[in-house]
Amino acid sequence: MEELEQLKRELKALNADYAKIRELPAEKRGEFGRDLNAKKMAILEKIREAEEALVDVEVEPLDITAPCGINEPLPEVYPVSQGSRHPLTAELERVTDIYQLMGFDVIESRQLDDEYHMFDALNFPKEHPARDGYDTFRTEEGLIPPAHTSTMQHRVLKMYKDRLARGEEIAVVVPGRVYRNEDVDATHEHTFYQCEGVYVSETCTMGDMLGILREFFEKYYEQKLNIRTQPGYFPFTEPSLEFMIEKPHALGGKKGDFLEMLGCGMIHPNVLKEAGIDPTKYHGFAWGGGIDRLVMLRFGLTDVRYFESGNLNFLREF
Ligand code: DAH
Repeated sequence: MEELEQLKRELKALNADYAKIRELPAEKRGEFGRDLNAKKMAILEKIREAEEALVDVEVEPLDITAPCGINEPLPEVYPVSQGSRHPLTAELERVTDIYQLMGFDVIESRQLDDEYHMFDALNFPKEHPARDGYDTFRTEEGLIPPAHTSTMQHRVLKMYKDRLARGEEIAVVVPGRVYRNEDVDATHEHTFYQCEGVYVSETCTMGDMLGILREFFEKYYEQKLNIRTQPGYFPFTEPSLEFMIEKPHALGGKKGDFLEMLGCGMIHPNVLKEAGIDPTKYHGFAWGGGIDRLVMLRFGLTDVRYFESGNLNFLREF
């Protein structure tokens, strides 16, 4: 660019020299003019070359041909589809569809919560070691990305308690994303999904809860299942249970191969009381379990880390 400018200045100076011809004696004019013309031609040639060189540098050659035959399918490297829903999103919808068919409302959990909903409203005494089982992250403002969807129990009870007064029951499920301070491996993720269930009425029993859970799992896996419970401990339920299903033969399970699918129990009277529900009049049960694990079993997946990996080869399998 600089060179081109210089050449143009030279050309201008040269053009000015033509005026001098008139001042010369007649016999010198011819030679002087020829000399000027030759110089001018040389400069014009250099200008042309410099302009061509500039075009070469600044403009990429444009290839307007299609990268493949126009009637051929596009090669793999091109974004040929618009993508699809993440398997956890699709399965979560299947889960909530099943509960909705059973008469449950669905409300979403939140991704930032507070100490009160995470622990206090759920009957965790202050400084109680049970809080350690829900080690998660904190924001600088002291907010908590919830370690379980149970943080929504208090809100559900308060939001829906008018129904009890009308002689109806509370029946709600709450899917949500949860976070734990975990050492990540094939079966543990720092970010995963749970679905919480809350049911309250005047007459419900633990038998109703087991019936609902069996119905849910049999619908989800589309087959009859053997179930089992064992005692568990959660501050927000009394008694507390761990609910297990026998790994179905079709999914690679052997007889007696029981898997823990969720925690559950009868809602602790303190949790009902805290939400303004009279525990001498009403009873409730609640449960909460991981969605990732549920989906892994359905599809025979062995590594939970795939879900958050963004690995397209994995996602395309669904
Ligand atoms: N929130 C518990 C967990 O993440 C699971 C759970 C247990 C939920 C008992 C409940 C319940 O609603 O009643 O480990």
